This record gives sequence, C-alpha cells and structure tokens, in this order.
Amino acid sequence: MQLAERMSRIGTESAFEVLVKARALERQGKHIVHLEIGQPDFPTPAHVVEAGKRALDEGWTGYGPTAGFPEFREMIAAYISRTRGISVAADNVCVVPGGKPIMFYTMMAVLEPGDEVIYPNPGFPIYESVIEFLGARPVPMPLVESRGFSFDLDLFESKLTSRTKMVVLNSPANPTGGVISRDDLKRIADLLRDRDVLILSDEIYSRIFYDEMPQSITQFDGMLEKTVILDGFSKTYSMTGWRLGYGVMPLWLADAVNLLMVNSNSCTASFTQRAGMAALDGPQDCVDAMVKEFRARRDAIVAGLNGLPGFTCTMPSGAFYAFPNITGTGLSSKELADLLLYEGGVSCLSGTAFGAHGEGYLRFSYANSLANIQEALTRIANVSERWTSVAR
Ligand SMILES: Cc1ncc(COP(=O)(O)O)c(C=O)c1O
Repeated sequence: MQLAERMSRIGTESAFEVLVKARALERQGKHIVHLEIGQPDFPTPAHVVEAGKRALDEGWTGYGPTAGFPEFREMIAAYISRTRGISVAADNVCVVPGGKPIMFYTMMAVLEPGDEVIYPNPGFPIYESVIEFLGARPVPMPLVESRGFSFDLDLFESKLTSRTKMVVLNSPANPTGGVISRDDLKRIADLLRDRDVLILSDEIYSRIFYDEMPQSITQFDGMLEKTVILDGFSKTYSMTGWRLGYGVMPLWLADAVNLLMVNSNSCTASFTQRAGMAALDGPQDCVDAMVKEFRARRDAIVAGLNGLPGFTCTMPSGAFYAFPNITGTGLSSKELADLLLYEGGVSCLSGTAFGAHGEGYLRFSYANSLANIQEALTRIANVSERWTSVAR
C-alpha cells in the first residue's frame, strides 16, 4: 500500500521532533534545559480549569453545533470587535480545536494548485507545509532583522502578481517575536485593497506584547472583508492542550470552514468551549501577570544572549521567543543547535526549522523560569569555546 502523492509534499513542525530528541537524552540520564517548546509554562488559570470541570459535571459532554456554541461565538465576536476596533458578528466566528485548524481549513477552502501564497520566512512552519500540500506555490517573504523582523515592503510589492491568492501575516510573530508596525500594516493594506487576495492574519500572540499593542490589518478600509483573523486560547490563557481556537472571517468563507469542520471534527469539544467562555468573561489579571513575567525573562535572556561570543539578539516586542543572530559563531544554525543540545544540555530550535531564511539564527522560547534561563545561558557560555576556538 502506498501513501498518496500529496503526502510527499506535507511538512512538519520540528519543535516536536527536537523535543523527542531532548527527551531521549533525558532518558539516558542527561539533564536538559528546555527552551524549545512554544507553550507558556504557566498553568491554565484556576477559574478556567474550574469552569471546565463544572462543565463536565453539568454534562457538557455531547456534540455541539459545528461552528461552536452561539453564546461563545457572540462572546468572541464582541471580544474581537473590541480589541481590534472593528465590528464583527457571531456568524463570522468559527470555533475550532486550536488555532492550527484555521490555517488548514482556510487554505484548503481557497487555494487551487498554482495559486501563489506570500508568507513570512522564517515563519510558523505549518504555513509552508499546507501551501505545498495543496499544490499551491509558496512565495516566502524574508524577514528583515534591522526592521524588527518585518517585511521589506518594496520587495513585498514586487512579489505581488496576478496569481497571488493569499498573504499570510503573523504579528506578534513566531519565531522572531517581531510585531508589524501600524505604518507597515497600512502600506500592506494599501497594496492589497484592490486585489482579489485573502489575508490570513495569525494573531494568536495578540495579548503577549511589551511595547505598543499589536494592531490588526482588519482596521484599515476594505480589509475586513478579505481577512481571516486567527486567534485562540492556547497562548493567552495557557491552554495549548485544551485545543481551543477560532477564526473570524467573511461569511462566504465561514460557510466553507464549517463544512470542512463537519467533514473532519463535527464540532469542538463542548466542555472546553465552556471553559473558553470563562476565560474571555473572567478576570484578565492572569494574562497581565503572565506577560509581566515574560517581560522579565525576555530582558534577561536577550541581555544574556548578547553577552555570548558570536551572538547578537534584537529585542523582541511580542510573543515569548528570542531569535538571536548567530552568524558570528561561524557555525550553521543546525550545527549550533545540535552542539548546544548534545554538549551543552540546552534544547533550542535551529532558525531553519522555520524556513530557509531562518539560517543564521536560533530560536529560544523563554517559556521557562528565570533560573532555568540563567542556567541555559551559563551552559551555552561554557561550550562557547567550541566555536570561539574554531573562529580564531
Ligand atoms: C504563529 C502560530 N500560529 C498558530 C499556532 C497554533 O496554535 P494552536 O496550538 O492553538 O493550534 C502557533 C503555535 O505554536 C503559532 O506559533
């Protein structure tokens, strides 16, 4: 029996593979500091867990409507309208198990073989994977470190063609922590306004920022009707394992996404949606406390990385990743990531796990305690002799 041809075109998320390697080393007795995992290390807020438990006790254990509970979709629509300064309705909201299905369903619903999709590179690897899987044409947009890892907008303009069907934006971004400025978003909006292009705006890190609040492209004239906002509960409320996310999109697309949901999941788990309602409706100080802690860790890790030979690290404005430039070490990203794992006992990701333009960088997730971050920095400094002696 052979796999379908399309399976040769699907990619993966190597964060999960690196985690498997690190766990194997741990089974051999090695101690590893984990800075590879893209999930907050905080527990889900207690009142959200309570709401989930209560929902189970109350019998929220059966199928629900495919698009999500109407009262939950109302709540999400109000939240998105308020936080993005736009006006959307419950019918625009599709509740799905996590943020990822929104990428998959949106691309599945609109992309034809040969359609071009512009997406950030380095970027979340699933964009490129699904584009290729569907036989569409990936058009990677290199991110510019000196612009806080935003696009070179002239280059962006030059990549737009009559075949451009979709543009993916991600702000705050994985893996760079970059936030797209309002001016850049406005220029992108101006370039796309008169084009028949769908924007997938991945805003899953929308609440994790350290400077100005990240803006959504949907606020600009003519953008709402051609944009899918992807957001969810994984990062904001530390709920990665609950699998709860949503897309906010034009009605014609919501109908298609709901059809794909009927054909695959039927619906998102009922009790997790009740927990999601408690998250949106309840106190938000848990989010503030998490971001405050992330800020202290960000400051510590960026200062520490900048002190390492061969490393320079831009200050990220959002998410919980540091993305240092490591070209000064003379090693490739993969070589350095392996050296840090096998000899330093520090697990991080090669920038190339996020696309070819990630070469020359590493991604460190600072979803780990300050003590562990300091330990990782000490360990890296201890093995730095390995590249400083080669570089000499
Ligand atoms: C940029 C980005 N989008 C989407 C997701 C997926 O989120 P979820 O776990 O809710 O599917 C992630 C998770 O790491 C991410 O980094």
